Amino acid sequence: MGYSSFSASSMSVLALVVLLFCSSTQLSSAQVTVLSSPSGPAGSSKVNLTLYYETLCPYCSKFMVNHLPKIFENGLIDIIDLRLIPYGNAKLSADKVITCQHGPNECFLNTVEACALHVWPALDKHFNFIKCVETFVDNNQRSQWGSCFSKLGYEEEPINQCYNSGFGKQLELGYAKVTGDLKPPLEFVPWVTVNNLALKDEYENFQTYVCNAYKGTKPAACQGQQMDITPAAKSNQMLEVTFMDEKTPTTKIMSPTPKARRQMKF
Ligand SMILES: *[C@@H]1O[C@H](CO)[C@@H](O)[C@H](O)[C@H]1NC(C)=O
Repeated sequence: MGYSSFSASSMSVLALVVLLFCSSTQLSSAQVTVLSSPSGPAGSSKVNLTLYYETLCPYCSKFMVNHLPKIFENGLIDIIDLRLIPYGNAKLSADKVITCQHGPNECFLNTVEACALHVWPALDKHFNFIKCVETFVDNNQRSQWGSCFSKLGYEEEPINQCYNSGFGKQLELGYAKVTGDLKPPLEFVPWVTVNNLALKDEYENFQTYVCNAYKGTKPAACQGQQMDITPAAKSNQMLEVTFMDEKTPTTKIMSPTPKARRQMKF
């Protein structure tokens, strides 16, 4: 998905709009309905936004608490199919034992969040819970994750049942496969893809990529988004991610003169 192809499609949309405007008096109401609502359920397909993450990685929790909730602003969610894949840099042995980068606590919370995704398939429901857990993680209070049930008024029992029955482990094995099958392979977390395009160090700009990938009428959230993908925006970045072989995450300086803008957000 290049900037140039976005420009080309913008131009054709613009041309269509101009054409529609100029000839609207000749169009039947049926034609107008079809042409003016390409983002409706029968129109353009939603954009797949997928986050591959692990529950205790600091940059994952920061992304999930501070950036990802933007999907709920200005209609962006209407054009997104969000998938959360709580597995990340975990490793799977031949006898199906999962070892997590930040230890057993991370495997536990990965599984809890996998259960939340399963038990509450509605996005707003599981997202609220997972965001609540990750907010505790982000505040160095991860042991208090269990208070998210009462805080949100959610039932705890289905999650306990999912975890204790071993079903959560099965979900994690599924996520191990999905993560392992990634092409290109996951290099670090958080790892964000937009329609299978890996954003890599551009992950915080997911909104721009989602907007550019969407072929229908763009929501208010997309106003001006195409301006962000420029060579200047792509260089001079700090990369805040957790690599597979790291015990503690580090901020990699990708350029000798990094802009402060990414750090300012945290
Ligand atoms: C989005 O994901 C679904 C399910 O994996 C897939 O069927 C669909 O083709 C994807 N859409 C795009 C535009 O990649």
